[in-house]
Amino acid sequence: MHTSPPDLHEIIYVSTLADDAPVRVVADIAKRARTNNRQANITGVLVFDGLHFCQQLEGCARAVDAAMARIQGDSRHRDVEVLHHGPLDKRRFRRFSLGYTSGEDVELLERLQRLKGQAALEAFVALLSGLDVDG
Ligand SMILES: Cc1cc2nc3c(=O)[nH]c(=O)nc-3n(C[C@H](O)[C@H](O)[C@H](O)COP(=O)(O)O)c2cc1C
Repeated sequence: MHTSPPDLHEIIYVSTLADDAPVRVVADIAKRARTNNRQANITGVLVFDGLHFCQQLEGCARAVDAAMARIQGDSRHRDVEVLHHGPLDKRRFRRFSLGYTSGEDVELLERLQRLKGQAALEAFVALLSGLDVDG
């Protein structure tokens, strides 16, 4: 069980799968993310709806920023937009996981792309409640 570092932070961003990237790259991304994030003591979730990503990363600020910098430069997705970046009292997740959305959740993800700050945070939490991921 990971302890929460004193400078616990979270980042939430949305992005879109690159035009030339097949959907199956998501499996490679998730595998790499799991390994790297475990090493960096980062937990969170990567949500994919077949086209868009929404990812939440939580951990110490430096680790989260470093991961985000790598992710931002990844050509397998485009239009990376950070919706929220701020301190967190307590981790939302015990590990890093991948969630798929379906049905009305897809609309939620699209809506999320147009939100910022607190509104984005609330929409993200609503999205999570419809997903089958462990806390
Ligand atoms: C949508 C998306 C989400 C990603 N999420 C993570 C992540 O949570 N953690 C991570 O280390 N890399 C993530 N990556 C991969 C990074 O962009 C990058 O390929 C990887 O960190 C490089 O790791 P390496 O230096 O060990 O090869 C993600 C990439 C994409 C496109």
